[in-house]
Amino acid sequence: MKVAVMGYGVVGSGVVEVLNKNQESISKRAGQEELAVKYILDLRDFPGDVNEGKFIKDFNIILNDDEVKVVVETMGGLNPAFDFVSKCLNAGKSVVTSNKELVAAKGIELLNIAKEKSVNFLFEASVGGGIPIIRPISQCLAANEIDEIAGILNGTTNFILTKMIEDKMEFADALKLAQDNGYAEKDPTADIEGIDACRKICILASLCYGKHVYPDGVFTQGITKISSEDVEYAKSWGGVIKLIGASKKLSDDKISAWVRPCFVANGSQLASTTDVFNAILVRGDAIGDVVFYGRGAGKLPTASAVVADVIDCAKHVERKKLFGWGESKENYVADYLDLPVTAYVRLSTSDKEKAKSQLGDIKVLTRDNAKSDELAFVISAKTERELNDTLSKLDAEVKNIIPVTDF
Ligand code: HSE
Repeated sequence: MKVAVMGYGVVGSGVVEVLNKNQESISKRAGQEELAVKYILDLRDFPGDVNEGKFIKDFNIILNDDEVKVVVETMGGLNPAFDFVSKCLNAGKSVVTSNKELVAAKGIELLNIAKEKSVNFLFEASVGGGIPIIRPISQCLAANEIDEIAGILNGTTNFILTKMIEDKMEFADALKLAQDNGYAEKDPTADIEGIDACRKICILASLCYGKHVYPDGVFTQGITKISSEDVEYAKSWGGVIKLIGASKKLSDDKISAWVRPCFVANGSQLASTTDVFNAILVRGDAIGDVVFYGRGAGKLPTASAVVADVIDCAKHVERKKLFGWGESKENYVADYLDLPVTAYVRLSTSDKEKAKSQLGDIKVLTRDNAKSDELAFVISAKTERELNDTLSKLDAEVKNIIPVTDF
């Protein structure tokens, strides 16, 4: 069986490397005499590359070659990835992708084409890099109702926060270090603004609750507002700040889904997930809590997940895997402002005693060298809208609001 790889960047070149290196064992596991890469589509030239002779620039060569049964999409972005992937599926080829932007925005359309054409559209590598999570949710945990899923879904931001917590670095310096280490993109907006984590929680929530969750309906806040003061207060509270993507079932036709920095208590497995690692907690009604942990990015970890999907496709030619989700209705994702919240709040006010008396039941937090007008506390409210309303009535400037998690 022949495979084509579209996009020879970090992940694509890793996929070709793994398929070449382990070709014999992979072919055997796939039940094929030979599972081999026939084409690599990329507009760039790679002179001297060991795969010379396989590079092509014309997508139609892949589309029109009946020998190619599985196509790997590792180009990233929506265009032309969506066009190419839908054409491949329509032509009866299975597709494997690591492209979370594509799955989060167009997953339902592509799954529907795959279903109609009895081919597979698999995307294990789109969430958590090399960490097995898509298949465990859809297969191993299939007996469970998933009450909640939450995780550290972006390695770059976890690295930055770890440096701010452990080495007391300021955000800008930690970001620069992430860039120098090659973790963050040159334009790191998708990482630090939470956009990458948002795409991933959309995919996980779609899978857990059976209806497509679109990124534009998910409240998304990155880590750019996190200061060393917040880090210190989290420590005095007994935890750390993590960028969390989470989704919870509220009723049969309503879920919550959001991405934002959160206080996570020491002792939680998410709190001890440091550096570029990812961790995803799944809360099922039969299994209880289960946590998937590992390298959420990188060439070979991500290639490991892509190639496993290729093997699965090869084993299921002309046998569609029952896998996917359906369309969702408007307002399927609840407004985060309508959800109950317990949150850390930091504000500045000239009259701390007056603010405290207006706030009622709060747990005041302290830190060394706090400014005289600084007040930090943890407060619970029936909804975040109600909390905002309470805070707006104070004679104070709200510096940050960070929810406290219970996982
Ligand atoms: N930029 C992503 C991260 C890459 O840092 O996690 C993997 O999706």
